[in-house]
Amino acid sequence: MMVLRGAAELSALGALRGAGPLVLVPTMGALHEGHLSLVRQGASLGPVVATIFVNPTQFGPGEDFDAYPRTLDADLALLAGASTAAVFVPSVADMYGAAGEVTVRAGRRAAGLCGASRPGHFDGVLTVVAKLFGMVRPDIAIFGSKDAQQCLVIEQMVADLRLPVTLLDAPTVREPDGMAMSSRNRYLGAADRERALCLSRALAAGRDLVAAGERVPAVVERAMRSALGPADAVDYAVVRNLPELDEGTGPLAGRVLLAVAARVGPARLIDNVALRVDAAGVEETRLLASSTRS
Ligand code: PAJ
Repeated sequence: MMVLRGAAELSALGALRGAGPLVLVPTMGALHEGHLSLVRQGASLGPVVATIFVNPTQFGPGEDFDAYPRTLDADLALLAGASTAAVFVPSVADMYGAAGEVTVRAGRRAAGLCGASRPGHFDGVLTVVAKLFGMVRPDIAIFGSKDAQQCLVIEQMVADLRLPVTLLDAPTVREPDGMAMSSRNRYLGAADRERALCLSRALAAGRDLVAAGERVPAVVERAMRSALGPADAVDYAVVRNLPELDEGTGPLAGRVLLAVAARVGPARLIDNVALRVDAAGVEETRLLASSTRS
């Protein structure tokens, strides 16, 4: 595994080009099995370039940029064991230089959910992802559907800016008890970890209601919110249409996202499930059109 410790070393990626599609897996490190599943999915397609960069511009004032876990040595060992061809570990100067005046502004899909409670967050994500696309020039980039809104916002950027990259989403990897894996789970002590189960339970409650025939979004949202009772504060518990994340006007139908965000102790946690609802029934579905086709 090549370890590229700065933008000056990116030319080494030339050795990987031409050996099948080049696959980018961007991360902020503090890696867990969820990240590694993206790498493994990528490695089945072509050489994988993982990136590790805690991107300052996607953290708001008062958020956890300083506290965000940085575990580079462990991350490199995990990536080496997961068939990663190269890891790019840029510095802030590599990504933003002295000025960094030109940025990407997220579109409509960033208006609600996490975009509403974290102003500027998705602009920061898109700006760094666009830079990584430009620096690594991947054929394929893989993102986790754990961060569903992020996937959809990136999909809109790729479409609107005509970026020559194919996006794939990867299913959410969960702990045995259903909790979605997240680098931020490291913030949780045992009691908070137990309470944090309410996020995946809320989604299960919402999904069960829809599977049982409930089609009124407000009823599903109320059930999810009530299941989030153990959390310290609920940010949102919503049903949205896919892929635009708009609120439906009528009964729930087609491809929908059940999404929750809540604070448990020191951690702000998110989780979601994508469902296809039609006459034949209700089933979990992939998020991105390009993944559904592959
Ligand atoms: P990070 O939170 O490190 O996540 C990196 C990638 O791993 C994202 O695509 C995320 O959706 C995916 N991921 C996280 N937890 C997962 C899980 N339990 N199952 C499957 N995939 C999971 O997301 C970011 O970093 C940043 O915003 C980034 C895109 C790197 C831009 O800075």
